[in-house]
Amino acid sequence: MPIELIQGDITGLRLDAIVNAANAALSGGGGVDGAIHRAAGPALSAACKAIPMVRPFVRCPTGEARITPGFDLPARWIIHVVGPVWSGGREGEPELLASCHRNALALAQAHGIASIAFPAISCGVFGYPPDQAVDIAVRIVRAHAPDGMRVVFCMFDAAMAERYRRALE
Ligand code: APR
Repeated sequence: MPIELIQGDITGLRLDAIVNAANAALSGGGGVDGAIHRAAGPALSAACKAIPMVRPFVRCPTGEARITPGFDLPARWIIHVVGPVWSGGREGEPELLASCHRNALALAQAHGIASIAFPAISCGVFGYPPDQAVDIAVRIVRAHAPDGMRVVFCMFDAAMAERYRRALE
């Protein structure tokens, strides 16, 4: 299936799932995480708190994925991933960013999710160089999206949308 590109707010998408660029504690934050928590409503925080910690303050290690309902969102599910913080590129950031995308797709498939939207994971507060992040996201989705799954990249701003448009050409 062709990968789609949408410019806008991921919280408005009526798909089976949207992906959240979360923090390891799944405690909510700014950026897309804040927007998703606001739109999903307070039940989302409670659902995140119910996800067991794998070590203190870590419910989802970097590169992994966890799932909750979407609550008040039009999307039925939220797949939370934790992208790497960019620290120069020699701390395994590319593999961790690839992992986020792969694990989100695998979790989606395990839940019978047929349509999913990704934001630009790690490209905000976490400081990943956008051009490098786009290449990884597109390569992994092309290689790992299960047959028949509708995958959308949802970019908030025009510059990121343009990067994806070029990468998807
Ligand atoms: N819809 C789609 N994309 C959005 C939205 C939205 N409503 N709001 C912001 N974005 C975009 C940003 O423009 C950026 O390109 O999401 C991208 C990712 O930025 P961040 O949300 O800052 O995510 P990230 O860099 O992965 O940092 C994660 O930020 O909010 C905290 O708790 C979160 O600690 C975690 C960190």
